[in-house]
Amino acid sequence: MPLLLPSSLYGLARPFLFGFDPEHAHEITLDGLARTQNTPLACAYSASRVDDPITLAGLTFPNRVGLAAGLDKNARCIDAFAAMGFGFVEVGTVTPKAQPGNPKPRMFRLPQRDALINRLGFNNDGLDAFLANVQKARFRKSSGGKTPMLLGLNIGKNAATPIERAVDDYLACLDGVYPHADYVTINISSPNTANLRTLQSDEALDALLGAVAERREALATRHGKRSPLFVKIAPDLDEAQVAVIAATLQRHRMDGVIATNTTLARDAVAGLPHADEGGGLSGAPVREASNRVIAQLRAALGKDFPIIGVGGILNAADAKAKIAAGADAVQIYTGLIYRGPALVREAAQALLRDRSKA
Ligand SMILES: Cc1cc2nc3c(=O)[nH]c(=O)nc-3n(C[C@H](O)[C@H](O)[C@H](O)COP(=O)(O)O)c2cc1C
Repeated sequence: MPLLLPSSLYGLARPFLFGFDPEHAHEITLDGLARTQNTPLACAYSASRVDDPITLAGLTFPNRVGLAAGLDKNARCIDAFAAMGFGFVEVGTVTPKAQPGNPKPRMFRLPQRDALINRLGFNNDGLDAFLANVQKARFRKSSGGKTPMLLGLNIGKNAATPIERAVDDYLACLDGVYPHADYVTINISSPNTANLRTLQSDEALDALLGAVAERREALATRHGKRSPLFVKIAPDLDEAQVAVIAATLQRHRMDGVIATNTTLARDAVAGLPHADEGGGLSGAPVREASNRVIAQLRAALGKDFPIIGVGGILNAADAKAKIAAGADAVQIYTGLIYRGPALVREAAQALLRDRSKA
């Protein structure tokens, strides 16, 4: 029954979904996943997970392909994404309080370039609702003796919190997510929250990571586990800025870096419909900048510092190029919208180091 294969199903679903405004299509999809996860209907998007374990930051990742943050901001569909065969899933960005995000429309497709522009602005239901959803997820219990998928919880700040008080929001989120996360991501690179990216600059980053690192020590003692902290950075940085960030990550003993978020650049899409919309551009046009930042990070951080590469993975070759640039593992967002769940297995297989383990 080839029609029941997930890839073919997505081939049927995509024209239907692309008939809707992008954000509405997103909501329909997440509602569908939330309703069907852990039911027999999940077979529509389930795939056997590629087994290719790798240890990074002291964690065993079942394979090297993850879901990037922002697709499941409220952590409603963790089990559905686990069923697609991801080795790790990152949910959020969550902020301490619920907030509506920017006015709609705020998400645009650029199908000619396999790209999206979004200026959602951390629309989310807030930390309490997020944690309630995280605690409902069953993927750890249902791993059937296999290495469980890893869960990353991505944290940010509310739009209404002045940037000088940003640290308070990150610490409030860190306190809440810490016991539930396999790793925590400090997101300082969304272009859609005013001044957020200024947290990437020297003194601001030093102060934020210093406070976060100190709180992590207290949380590690309280909860009896030391959860790794990753920092997610932008592609719109020059080599000197990347070098300063790399040194700051190491100084504060961060466990990894996620590179990159969306880009503010528009050269790769100039002239296309929606190209002039404000927000972050993702998908194929961010690939090159993301790979450049990954290579610069690897050069600055040395061979052992974990780097998760994200930005513009649309096929197996793109995933391999991220590893070649210096990433240890990869994440996908926009590729999932254009290619569907089949991309997860395709990328994980392409990154397999020992093909006898497939
Ligand atoms: C609609 C949309 C929303 C996003 N929201 C977040 C977010 O809340 N937090 C975050 O860290 N990254 C967010 N991202 C960035 C992605 O996680 C990823 O870093 C970026 O899109 C590049 O990867 P891609 O080309 O595979 O999409 C978002 C991306 C998109 C397209």
